[in-house]
Amino acid sequence: MKNKLYIQMFSIHGLLRAENMEMGRNADTGGQIKYVVELGKALSQNDNIKQVDLFTRLIADKTVSEDYSQPVETINDKFRIVRIQCGGKKYIRKELLWPHLDEFVDKTIKFIRQKKLIPDIVHGHYADAGYVASQMAELFGIPFIFTGHSLGRAKKEKLVNAGLTENAIIKKYKIDHRIQIEEEVLKIADLIITSTNQEIKEQYGMYQCNCLPIFSVIPPGLDIDKFYPYYHDILPETDKDEIEMHAQASVREELNRFFMQPDKSLILTICRPDKRKNISGLIKAYGEDKELQSMANLAIFAGIRKDISKKEENEKDVLTEMLLLMDKYDLYGKMAIPKKHSFEYEVPELYRIAAEKKGVFVNAALTEPFGLSLIEAAATGLPTVATNDGGPQDIIKNCKCGILVDPVQTEEISHAIRTIIAETDLWKKYSKNGIINVRKYYIWKNHAKKYIREISKLKTSAVKTNLRIAKPTDPIGRRIIKLKHFIVTDIDNTLTGGDKESLKKLLAILQNNQKSIGFGIATGRTVESAVKHLGKHDIIHPDVIISSVGAELYYGKKLHFSRGWETHISKQWNRAKIKNLLDKFDFLKYQEEDTQRKFKISYYMKPEKDNIARIHAILIKNRCRYNLIYSHDKYLDILPFRASKGKAIRYLSYKWDIPLNNFLVCGDSGNDTEMLKGVSCGVIVGNYSRELESLKGSKNIYFADRQYTGGIMEGLNHYKFIEKTRL
Ligand code: GLC
Ligand code: MG
Repeated sequence: MKNKLYIQMFSIHGLLRAENMEMGRNADTGGQIKYVVELGKALSQNDNIKQVDLFTRLIADKTVSEDYSQPVETINDKFRIVRIQCGGKKYIRKELLWPHLDEFVDKTIKFIRQKKLIPDIVHGHYADAGYVASQMAELFGIPFIFTGHSLGRAKKEKLVNAGLTENAIIKKYKIDHRIQIEEEVLKIADLIITSTNQEIKEQYGMYQCNCLPIFSVIPPGLDIDKFYPYYHDILPETDKDEIEMHAQASVREELNRFFMQPDKSLILTICRPDKRKNISGLIKAYGEDKELQSMANLAIFAGIRKDISKKEENEKDVLTEMLLLMDKYDLYGKMAIPKKHSFEYEVPELYRIAAEKKGVFVNAALTEPFGLSLIEAAATGLPTVATNDGGPQDIIKNCKCGILVDPVQTEEISHAIRTIIAETDLWKKYSKNGIINVRKYYIWKNHAKKYIREISKLKTSAVKTNLRIAKPTDPIGRRIIKLKHFIVTDIDNTLTGGDKESLKKLLAILQNNQKSIGFGIATGRTVESAVKHLGKHDIIHPDVIISSVGAELYYGKKLHFSRGWETHISKQWNRAKIKNLLDKFDFLKYQEEDTQRKFKISYYMKPEKDNIARIHAILIKNRCRYNLIYSHDKYLDILPFRASKGKAIRYLSYKWDIPLNNFLVCGDSGNDTEMLKGVSCGVIVGNYSRELESLKGSKNIYFADRQYTGGIMEGLNHYKFIEKTRL
């Protein structure tokens, strides 16, 4: 029981629910939706798994079903869908979700904290969830699995080939951002699961970091109960329900509308009306082979349509060409091109009808990344002729249920179909192989088994082979999530600068209370300079470093950079514009380059006349958003309007769910003002500089008599802070 795994999966975009999935409703609701739910179900049924939570975006939007606004959807006692809100509540297409993912991370951390359950493994599906899962993995030191489902570089190539300009692609699809995230995900993923071998070579092969993670090919499974073999229907006692019988009858009727001799064998294809599916190649193969026409009819199910003229360009071309070829080869009475079918019930019946007629399923696509239809056909006992590319290569190798052909050689296609239909023994062999091997290679139960085997093989610091998760080396997230109290202090002239004796005492207190109190610093220094300075004074490594006056935030010894904070403060920040405006003032002297940051512009300025007012005036007139901080009568820092030491503490409190009044905050100067205010326990050391004078009399701010660390000790006493943590 102890060693069972808790897996958190992420599949953020689209409309995700376990029942009545809206596959194909829009471009974000594709096969991935079904994949993640079925994977979750399969994993939850495995004995090695304790719990699976599938995280997705919460959407409360009148234009979509209410189901997507339920915070938790329970699928079984070990599997649920958890919905987290980010970027408002309206539906947003996946390309526009990027700026909101850090919010998703933060809220997921809160969820974990509230439930007190840290996952053993995180698994991200698609680049967006890959990003979220990678952040979780880094913070909590847990293994990270990634499944791309599709990748940006391959998509970009396709869009370029389709004639879109670079500019349009970047604008509409944000593809470069996606690619950059994918590169980063590959850098830290421990395991990448793909559906086919080709995906590894040809898709991940396009990435610079493709040699870093371990890859494992685990094809998705099939719902075997739906795609049962055709002979179940022929046997005297079938247990088909009314819906299935109705579906079968309507498919038969539909086909009979087209065929002069419906009893002939049947060549079947089911695919989207997409040029790459090469439907025209199949019609040509059939149209040019009279012998084949005498043996079998051809049925093409190319999506659902009402009015071809209203379809989008690619589809319209494909459908029009279909009709023209039917006419050219005079295939009336032999070729069926039905306008609609229901995926859920009619598709399995179609395969079974074709199998019963000793027919063949054809997938002659020019490229085929996976080829689920071949597996479905094989499962029902329908032999296949498939393109010698991508997924079908794996499928035919595993299932031995048909023949691979070069899709541009139409004669090769027709010859293969003819061979299977004509040679009864061959047909029987392929039919049987398909039924048996799909049940061996392509069922979710086996997928889950292999998945768990692969996880336990991972040689990362965090996983041992016997499924017991070892403690990772620097699991800063694991530590912070347990903390309820924090001491955050400024460095210069507060923690250091004098009173070495008290500093020693404070360090001892921190050490003795390490389990319950977190230690943070908030400084004007850069992170590099802060770390160096702390080292010089033998100060223990903080759990959190707020550096450059709140322009940056880091966690733990490894200095894990908080992207969440960066994204949060980057809003409406225009560094170049502000610098340009301020450079004009000769009372400002730009500070040394090594103090300047992406989100901090610093000057030296004397406290003369109306300098500050003039700065505000020019920035406001030019509609800049910023935060101005002046300290020690000398330093002027301009930060994004959302950044400051105090706001960074508020962000920490929110993200890690630690109440603000459980923070003890200490400082000495103007750049500490904001963090000292509010409900946290503020402590101002005796040697404070005059800009803090105005805080006298404020609630929750204690002015210590003693200077430097001595003042901090006094503050600890004043608030009975240590005693409070023991309550
Ligand atoms: C530190 C920084 C400087 C900043 C000052 C006040 O000295 O190096 O850039 O202006 O703190 O925040
Ligand atoms: Mg200071």
